[in-house]
Amino acid sequence: MVTGVPVITVDGPSGSGKGTLAQRIAETLGWHFLDSGAIYRVLGLMVERAGISGDNVDKITEMAKNMPLSFDQGMVLLAGEDVAGAIRTETIGNAASKVAAIPQVREALLAWQRNYAKAPGLVADGRDMGTVVFPQAAVKIFLTASAEERAQRRYKQLKGKGLGVNLARLTEEIRERDERDSKRAVAPLIAAESAYQLDSTAMSIDEVYEQAMFNISMALPDLQR
Ligand code: DC
Repeated sequence: MVTGVPVITVDGPSGSGKGTLAQRIAETLGWHFLDSGAIYRVLGLMVERAGISGDNVDKITEMAKNMPLSFDQGMVLLAGEDVAGAIRTETIGNAASKVAAIPQVREALLAWQRNYAKAPGLVADGRDMGTVVFPQAAVKIFLTASAEERAQRRYKQLKGKGLGVNLARLTEEIRERDERDSKRAVAPLIAAESAYQLDSTAMSIDEVYEQAMFNISMALPDLQR
């Protein structure tokens, strides 16, 4: 981590719109972008593919320490294979949430994530960006939305892709994932004390973006938009 590099964190549950928001902020500012959820998703994919039991902490931690992972222009490269699409399924989301509950895995991925803080700045999206990974962040945003609204958004997204989905099951899965992410012992999903909290349930992505940018420009008045 380069000291003095400004960081903006965007944390919140799955489907709150934090990924879209964080990416848009990064584009506006010309800063780097870190999708930390993608790292846990890739690890979830590796564990699924290898058929390793979720209890095998040593093996999963070993895999976390040696992930042949890189990001390149929207591609998520796992040993050269673009897995950007493969990691977006509900199955892999759930696998990611399980490996993310292992303290040794989180520890192994800390330095990796912090290395993304490079000039001119970083926008990092996840669950513990503002609380654990970048506690020194200049601006911390915590974006939420009701579980029903998030399930609706995901439902539309999957339907749009022509996939058959069940809304009630999706809502249940989102609740279960929230529960696991919020109750885990290490780095649970929780708003940092100084975080600017936004509830996107009844807001469009443009409204969320405008409010977030207003807040950022108040905190960092020298920024160019
Ligand atoms: O944001 P996402 O849905 O892509 O994240 C997938 C899972 O990874 C999520 O259920 C919890 C975990 N995660 C985490 O524990 N810490 C992060 N910083 C980001 C994601």
